[in-house]
Amino acid sequence: MAASVPVLIVDFGSQYTQLIARRIRENRVYCEIVSCTTPTEQILARQPRAIVLSGGPSSVYAEDAPPFDPALLELGLPTLGICYGVQLMAHRGGGRVARAARREYGPAEVKVERPVGVFAPFAAGESLQVWMSHGDRIEAMPEGFVPIGSSANTPFCAVACVERKIYGFQFHPEVYHTPRGHEMLRAFLFDVAGLTPDWTPGQFVDQAMASIQQRVGATGTVICGLSGGVDSSVAAALVHRAIGSRLHCIFVDNGLLRHNEADEVLRLFRGRMDITVHHVNAAARFLDELKGIVDPEQKRKIIGRVFIEVFEAEARRIDNARYLVQGTLYPDVIESVSFKGPSAVIKSHHNVGGLPEKMHLALVEPLRELFKDEVREVGAQMGLPHDILWRHPFPGPGLAIRCLGEVTEPRLDVLRKADTIVQEEIRTSGLQSSLWQAFAVLLPVRSVGVMGDERTYDECVAIRAVQSSDGMTADWARLPHDLLATLSTRIINEVKGVNRVVYDISSKPPATIEWE
Ligand code: XMP
Repeated sequence: MAASVPVLIVDFGSQYTQLIARRIRENRVYCEIVSCTTPTEQILARQPRAIVLSGGPSSVYAEDAPPFDPALLELGLPTLGICYGVQLMAHRGGGRVARAARREYGPAEVKVERPVGVFAPFAAGESLQVWMSHGDRIEAMPEGFVPIGSSANTPFCAVACVERKIYGFQFHPEVYHTPRGHEMLRAFLFDVAGLTPDWTPGQFVDQAMASIQQRVGATGTVICGLSGGVDSSVAAALVHRAIGSRLHCIFVDNGLLRHNEADEVLRLFRGRMDITVHHVNAAARFLDELKGIVDPEQKRKIIGRVFIEVFEAEARRIDNARYLVQGTLYPDVIESVSFKGPSAVIKSHHNVGGLPEKMHLALVEPLRELFKDEVREVGAQMGLPHDILWRHPFPGPGLAIRCLGEVTEPRLDVLRKADTIVQEEIRTSGLQSSLWQAFAVLLPVRSVGVMGDERTYDECVAIRAVQSSDGMTADWARLPHDLLATLSTRIINEVKGVNRVVYDISSKPPATIEWE
């Protein structure tokens, strides 16, 4: 955790709180989210230079409204209240908030009354498109506040107490549907609060190295489970830069990886980055344990258990191992700061789930302050290849959950060949970065075909390509027909054992992205 944080966002449970943080960081100003239950002394200890009060689903006058310390408004810090945040300012400062005759949700026009502070980028009388989402409305502001923007429904749509540098919006400047919201946020950060845009990936790398060195001290070995994914790669690169050869990576080859994947990971980390990598080839053990298993949950359980056993055994061979690197990202951390109460456990990194508790290792989480796109920026800053940084997610259980039915070496071989074609063609099409994932699935279905003069009775490959922003929901990608045709022709011609290719047109929900 950084000692001082230029902007603290006090969270009252808005679905948009993360988005506020991202918008601020996009301006190269570091910020963090704190729960509204955080005592004011703790907030002050972070030495913020500006405060944002988020929106939230509650009513300020409700009995179970989230806690709020009015002293926060007396700190003399530039403050921006958004939606619920500005209603709090009104309610706690002696104004009036009441239920609106009708809930306002969707686009609205705000007229600029006074082009000051957060509205300084605009002209008096200018009309701005904004996004509203609120059930209550402000009917009177406390003394000292003036309206600086109004809408047909809401006279106090944007308010200010200019001398105290306190501003409030009834609408959401952070969402895409407020097209000029970024100008308002910039005006708040740079003109009102006088901050400087100095939070860069380079600065993050320096800070992260210092804090890793401080955390692990001068002795002791740090171990890191390498999966070849973005997060573990960037985390390993950072820790290596901080402590050099005291980092030992463990790369478990479970035999369920894609074509050439193990070689590529080793070439990059051992070869190019000169990191110590313990390569454990456990393919035979995994395949042996998976023999005869067709149930998806059983496959996952077996793979998870064997991974932990193999990893632990290897870790025990490393002298003085005291720390374990985890690729926890900021969204996982935020889940635990919500005022609704911390979620029971912070999500553990999929591929090393369950390891830390069993192994009594202290955690090193160098990415816990970053969003995914920031992890990529930091990786690029450290010279990691584009292909690693823009990799599609790949599940811990690997090809086993894309090889429906029994997982055997010959079937994995067929799947790997089909998947390689999908990866090649998607990359060539230029669509790679617009897709969340694209891959092949081998189905345990045989159908009749005819090749040359011969009848075939072979397996079927399904192609899955989806668009998604977080993997929680997804839509099947409308791939061009010509691309689908190329995929089908190449897979059927080049992969022996496959005589039919189908395209998966199911969205999530109700389907899932993976087939198992
Ligand atoms: P589903 O299939 O649940 O997948 O729609 C959502 C996203 O999560 C990935 N996924 C996993 N990632 N370990 C992982 O590291 C797993 O066990 C796992 N299962 C699914 C999946 O690839 C998709 O991006």
